[in-house]
Amino acid sequence: MLKQDIISKNKMIKHNSPTLGTEEEQAALKVIQSGWLAHGSEVVEFENEFCEFIGLPEGNAVAVTNGTSALFLALWALQAQDRKVALPVYACSSLRHAAAMARAKELLLDVDHGTPNISLDQLTQSDADIAIVPHMYGLPLDISACKDIDVVEDCAQAIGASVDNVSVGLRGKLGIYSFYATKLITSGGHGGMVVSKDKTIIDTIRNYKEFDQRRDRKKRFNFHMTDIQAAIGSAQLKKLPQFLQRRSEIFELYKQAELPMLDTISDNLTPVRYRAVLLTKRPAEIIKSLQAAGIESIVPVEDWELLGEKELFPNALELTKQTVSLPIYPSLSTDDVNKIITVVKDNF
Ligand SMILES: Cc1ncc(COP(=O)(O)O)c(C=O)c1O
Repeated sequence: MLKQDIISKNKMIKHNSPTLGTEEEQAALKVIQSGWLAHGSEVVEFENEFCEFIGLPEGNAVAVTNGTSALFLALWALQAQDRKVALPVYACSSLRHAAAMARAKELLLDVDHGTPNISLDQLTQSDADIAIVPHMYGLPLDISACKDIDVVEDCAQAIGASVDNVSVGLRGKLGIYSFYATKLITSGGHGGMVVSKDKTIIDTIRNYKEFDQRRDRKKRFNFHMTDIQAAIGSAQLKKLPQFLQRRSEIFELYKQAELPMLDTISDNLTPVRYRAVLLTKRPAEIIKSLQAAGIESIVPVEDWELLGEKELFPNALELTKQTVSLPIYPSLSTDDVNKIITVVKDNF
């Protein structure tokens, strides 16, 4: 890369960026200086703080390596092997990796028309035993209609969202979270959490993850989060309310400018603004114009990323053709938001 290219790349308004500061630096340093680096007291503290944040008693969350392993562990705890697990076709590929690892039979479903979330009609009419239900882009889905299906709520993009004032992740049998670098909070690049109101499920997962010094010869696996990750996660969790507030302000700026944003909110649903998704029939042109103005944007899920044959899932396919994800993260300045709005409006 030429020096000139490096400079202009640095000036780009990034599509996404973690927001880290001295609190995270200090938290990591404290762990390094303590001499205890593996999973220990910081992990326990982070788990308990997380419980408090989403409204669970202490002990009902278990921190793990990432969101994908959290999904796997949730399916493993529900004994998904050889059972039907419904997945939306419009989602992160981690869902099918986790289902495959758990040796489940995958059942792919479409999203509801004009929404990024799984079709509840298709789900409730299916013969699925278990479902992974992501709250895509921070837009919560009310799963109360899923009576006979064990739901794993995938809150990777939705920490802090709620349905009827109850945090997402608490209505299903289990909830999972991701602390990947560009998620709502990060535990230093990777990390995840599994929660459940049913503590016996969490204890079972904790037991599976504690593989060392066991005499019972049961099969286990190392899915531990480290104390450095947990300390960074705790520092981020303290900032989460202000992060969510700033994200919400940015989303409102886009809406006030009358950009057509994907938003599927009704009275009982409180979203978090993980993504600002613009609806447009000309995504490629909008992305190109933004790029020319020094602004990164992406198609949030491309047609080739769908988890099944695209022709079989018309609603998901349509969404892939009509969406552009605009920058939205706490450190994005209002000047930059206004610049993005101007470029989009000029090219609409
Ligand atoms: C909806 C959803 N579920 C699960 C994951 C997997 O999380 P991780 O990257 O931490 O494994 C992601 C994203 O990365 C995601 O967006």
